[in-house]
Amino acid sequence: MANPSLLILPGDGIGPEVMAQVRRVIDWFGANRDLAFDVSEDLVGGAAYDKHGTPLHDDTMARAQEVDAVLLGAVGGPKYDDLDFSVKPERGLLRLRKEMDLFSNLRPAQCFDALADFSSLKKDVVAGLDIMIVRELTSGVYFGEPRGIHKEGNERVGINTQRYTESEIARVARSAFELARKRSNKVCSMEKANVMESGILWRQVVQEIHDAEYPDVELSHMYADNGAMQLVRAPKQFDVIVTDNLFGDVLSDCAAMLTGSLGMLPSASLGLPMANGRPKALYEPVHGSAPDITGQGKANPIACILSFAMALRYSFDEGENADLLEGAVQKVLADGVRTADLMGPEGGSPVSTTEMGDAILAALD
Ligand code: NAI
Ligand code: MG
Repeated sequence: MANPSLLILPGDGIGPEVMAQVRRVIDWFGANRDLAFDVSEDLVGGAAYDKHGTPLHDDTMARAQEVDAVLLGAVGGPKYDDLDFSVKPERGLLRLRKEMDLFSNLRPAQCFDALADFSSLKKDVVAGLDIMIVRELTSGVYFGEPRGIHKEGNERVGINTQRYTESEIARVARSAFELARKRSNKVCSMEKANVMESGILWRQVVQEIHDAEYPDVELSHMYADNGAMQLVRAPKQFDVIVTDNLFGDVLSDCAAMLTGSLGMLPSASLGLPMANGRPKALYEPVHGSAPDITGQGKANPIACILSFAMALRYSFDEGENADLLEGAVQKVLADGVRTADLMGPEGGSPVSTTEMGDAILAALD
């Protein structure tokens, strides 16, 4: 059987720096775990604009549609701030998400014990935390029509429309239930069915999909405002949370920050299954291109490395190898290895991007 294929798009700023460490990790799995990938690399964002005059070349887009998973670093930077909207680096990423129809955005919030002191919450509230927010990414109020700003009499009126079809809700619900089965088998769905019709439909459809296809998964429903409160009060009560685009945007940022630095946060965006059964998939760190530290060897590669761990788990059904990689990250942090972003106020001597890669490879060995 052919090796699974990966398209790597390092992008701009610290993207290539953190991705270089991921390449070493990928090679380690090929050499030591009999898990070889066919890896190709291409340009996205400003890097693609510099070469092709577009933030995503058509050939790259076509390749992204073919591969088993795409791994992206970050896009953007001050150099590109004055470009026309249509060729801005972000457009490359948005085109990937849109044309691959990546409707299910997975944002884990996992607390590494060694970093529990970093949280703004009490240590015992977050220690051992491991939850996953599934955010609907391609519909809802960010896309609904009508929208715009118009004049009514003497004043301006701004309009956006929250719109969800049954099938849009059903597919992201399935994605959440499938995930839950690979985790602790628990889903909490969040909306505001008390005040929004789209929320009433959301709750109904999630319940119907559950009853018909996933009765083995424990399902609960919560109003999103209460959900926000519960996330900060007692986050460990959750396993998988599924919610719409707008609430998901806010709740996932909130949950992520329970656990510390931007340099630690991975994400996945999944679409429908391909012919081989694997979902269309894009994995990327949550952080951006960090122009303030680019080229200084300061970037924390862990968010990007954990994004690859998510690829192992969700695209390649290699949960055991994902555990191995996440365990190596845990160990390195427990040993006190820290990039600059993980230094507390008391300071210390941080390691470089490459040294963090060295430490993770050594822990894997
Ligand atoms: P950012 O995430 O790039 O940086 C925010 C802060 O966090 C900076 O101080 C940065 O040094 C630090 N930081 C981020 N990642 C880090 C890492 N791995 N290790 C250590 N420190 C890290 O967000 P910002 O500054 O708002 O945006 C910078 C550029 O990135 C902009 O052009 C923006 O459009 C783009 N961006 C791209 C994203 C993507 O590719 N998905 C997401 C967010 C922003
Ligand atoms: Mg956000």
